[in-house]
Amino acid sequence: MKLGVCYYPEHWPEARWPIDAQMMREAGLDVVRIAEFAWANMEPEPGHYTWEWLDRAISVLAEAGLQVILGTPTATPPAWLTQAHPDVLRVDRNGRTRQHGSRRHACPTSPTYRALSRAIVSAMAARYGQDARVVGWQIDNEFGGGKTARCYCDRCADAFRRWLQARYGTLAALNAAWGTVFWSQTYDAWEQIQAPDDAIDKPNPSQELDSFRFCSDAFVAYQQEQIDILRASAPGRFITHNFMGLYRDLNQFDLAAPLDFVSWDNYPTGNPDRWRKLLYPFGVDPGRSDPVYAYDVGDPIITSMAHALTRGLKQRPFWIMEQQCGLINWGDVNPGVRTGTPRLWTWHALAEGAEACVYFRWRPSPYAQEQYHSGLLRHDGAPTIGLAEVRALAAARARMAAVAATPFTAEIGLLFDFDDLWAIQLEPHRRGFDYLRHLFVYYQALMRLGLPVDLVPLRADLSRYKLLIAPSLHIADDERAARLRDYAAQGGGLLLGVRSGFKTGSNLVPQEPLPGALRELVGAQVTHWQSLPDGVEMRLESAVPSLNTPATIWVEYLQPETARVLAHTASGHAVWTENGVGNGRCHFLGWYPTPDQARALLLHLIETSAVPFDLPPLPDLPHGLLAYRRGPYTLLLNFTDQTLTASPAGAPVSVPPRDVLVLTS
Ligand code: GAL
Repeated sequence: MKLGVCYYPEHWPEARWPIDAQMMREAGLDVVRIAEFAWANMEPEPGHYTWEWLDRAISVLAEAGLQVILGTPTATPPAWLTQAHPDVLRVDRNGRTRQHGSRRHACPTSPTYRALSRAIVSAMAARYGQDARVVGWQIDNEFGGGKTARCYCDRCADAFRRWLQARYGTLAALNAAWGTVFWSQTYDAWEQIQAPDDAIDKPNPSQELDSFRFCSDAFVAYQQEQIDILRASAPGRFITHNFMGLYRDLNQFDLAAPLDFVSWDNYPTGNPDRWRKLLYPFGVDPGRSDPVYAYDVGDPIITSMAHALTRGLKQRPFWIMEQQCGLINWGDVNPGVRTGTPRLWTWHALAEGAEACVYFRWRPSPYAQEQYHSGLLRHDGAPTIGLAEVRALAAARARMAAVAATPFTAEIGLLFDFDDLWAIQLEPHRRGFDYLRHLFVYYQALMRLGLPVDLVPLRADLSRYKLLIAPSLHIADDERAARLRDYAAQGGGLLLGVRSGFKTGSNLVPQEPLPGALRELVGAQVTHWQSLPDGVEMRLESAVPSLNTPATIWVEYLQPETARVLAHTASGHAVWTENGVGNGRCHFLGWYPTPDQARALLLHLIETSAVPFDLPPLPDLPHGLLAYRRGPYTLLLNFTDQTLTASPAGAPVSVPPRDVLVLTS
């Protein structure tokens, strides 16, 4: 595993650079990412480039033995640019134009911004594309960060119309696809169509889903222009982008497709603030941290899920391009780190399949928005606990490399689909019903059982999984149904959950019995569905005793056609079915499971799998201890302040607080 750091030479006097570079090398760092916000320093006036400072910075870093990653600076257009070209500015949902003074204030569909972005990237690539000291490129920075995925400017409205013309061809087709007969929305000219802004009552969910897709495609197209330039001018260098873990507003699979590998920015103490309220199961107080975990480690299961999604974006190892190494400045509360914690995070990333860990940042800024954010040095240039931790990793580097050389393999896939996520987000139908939260019920159950899982799109190679879980395969069509049928027919176990097959590709309800295109695969139809108020429970009788606990949240009644019934309500309605499909089977779970039910269900599915699992579940793992099995290695990571004991290979092993043990079989 490579280690590195994010560095902003433009923030410090040049006389300091050699000291920093030397300290980085002495700490054992291999790579340094620079320049991703330095547009104003590279091009202080239109078309006038000042590369000399960057030349010198690269030289100083390279002379110390560091490999350089360059970021394209397009997340931060300079003030002269926005002043001369106000048409680049993005507009929010309420029609407000966003101004210079922060970052990400430009719109990816703006032809001017596109042209000026191409110009700066071309100039940068011409200068450094073949520079042996530059090993790779990061495009832009965190697309969509700071809630900037969607823009409502006039240029976006025009581009949206063109996108719709390409998708639907005719207005008649669009009207049918969106069901515009409802509320007299019918369009008879393309110019009448707007991006769904702050509408009175609700916007049309078909229109809004398309607008989400369009906004995502706009970033994919914007990114591609930079990729094309770099592929031509920087041959042999890697190209990546730094994603944001479980970020939901852009289709991360589409953005990842043309990159060499993906990276993400991991801030474990901030992750729970970003996602805990969203992910934690119904009934858990989302405002409180899980008391099991040490106060300075974040929530390791949420962090794991973000690692897993990042790994799933290309179904291959990934990088951490920004790794928290001290306190951050944007959480609700921002604890510092204690000795052991940055090491634990680094091993956690490695265990999940990261090939590199680049710490954010070298030294805290005395200026502007991130003065309260820490780094590997203090403001005064002295080392922090983070730097001591990085130095101490030197002794473990050989072992880290050996573990990293064994592939991360999962026998279970959790399907992830941004269209499904967005469609449910647009019509949750029940307070708190969220696609990611529904996935998390299974994800956390799997992690608590020590079972590796990939978060993958339907278009991935599914044949590698013995069990595939789609908690809500919401949008279904014949092609999706055929892919799933092929997977199951070859011996796979497929689990579908509530709200599967409920929508067509344009977000309409199919006019055939639910689950629509998935009905034959499921071997049953859904005759009745509803969400249940808090406190209302439906008693169940199940063939699997551990699942004889009540259904809550959401229930669907099933009428079996070819499937057999595994659970029914006290009133006799089937709610869990199993259908044989070729050599495999398809389960349909007609209620939203609790974490305990998900665990019991998973254990049942693994026990009864047609194909035996190589990695058995570890049902005795204590809460707070994560286990990873990689080839001959078993990694145990303790995220609590207590010593925890587990027996992953028979004999009990104790793991001290916030420590990592690597066992070899
Ligand atoms: C990231 C961003 C960095 C920095 C960091 C602070 O999201 O990419 O530029 O702002 O957060 O934690």
